[in-house]
Amino acid sequence: MKIRARVSMSADGYVTTPTGWPAQTADPAFASGESHGIREFLDGCEAALMGRTTFEPALTNNRWPWPKLDVFVLGSHRPAGTPDHVVTDSDPVRLLERIRTADHGGDVHLVGGPRTIQTFHALGALDTLELVIAPLLFGGGTRLTPGLDPAIGLTFRRERALPGGSVEIVYSCEGSRSPLPGSPASQR
Ligand SMILES: NC(=O)c1ccc[n+]([C@@H]2O[C@H](COP(=O)([O-])OP(=O)(O)OC[C@H]3O[C@@H](n4cnc5c(N)ncnc54)[C@H](OP(=O)(O)O)[C@@H]3O)[C@@H](O)[C@H]2O)c1
Repeated sequence: MKIRARVSMSADGYVTTPTGWPAQTADPAFASGESHGIREFLDGCEAALMGRTTFEPALTNNRWPWPKLDVFVLGSHRPAGTPDHVVTDSDPVRLLERIRTADHGGDVHLVGGPRTIQTFHALGALDTLELVIAPLLFGGGTRLTPGLDPAIGLTFRRERALPGGSVEIVYSCEGSRSPLPGSPASQR
């Protein structure tokens, strides 16, 4: 089982639009269902993991976003209307244990957001950070950092161009490097 964070972002580094929607929703190519490589990615996954903030909008979606996956949510409470099969927990260590107990050999799609990616990285459980960079500039929104600590160590693994002009870059996250001089992390 690998825990694989996969995040869409604009070319200027925002994971949400200025109005707070996930970056991929602003990409016209995303609506075609072919861009962003999500189908191939999910082929190897058996579970989705996310923070409560990312999870809650799914409860009012017309379509359940994770029909073939076990779903795990980190949050202080179980949002009203959460389907019975969804596992929620307020403790990331306990949630990780529950994910490992349920493991059947497939990977875990860590959907986000940045704070939850950071939480699992801090536990040493994040295997890859996979970025899908859309050919869009937002000029505002939520950045990947500092929700995700800029000191995270990234080792390049592979890249591919996706239909619609996005580029996927896969990094592995073993270990951490020293914070960049002058970065917020170096001043803590
Ligand atoms: N572009 C993309 O691919 C993508 C993907 C996912 C999300 N997003 C965007 O990211 C934004 C949300 O990101 P986010 O980082 O603010 O929120 P998030 O990670 O989705 O959720 C944060 C919540 O998770 C829980 N949590 C996180 N770390 C915890 C810890 N160490 N201990 C206990 N609970 C913890 C807390 O829930 P409680 O408040 O209940 O305690 C916290 O408020 C949304 O706007 C979403 O659209 C974008």
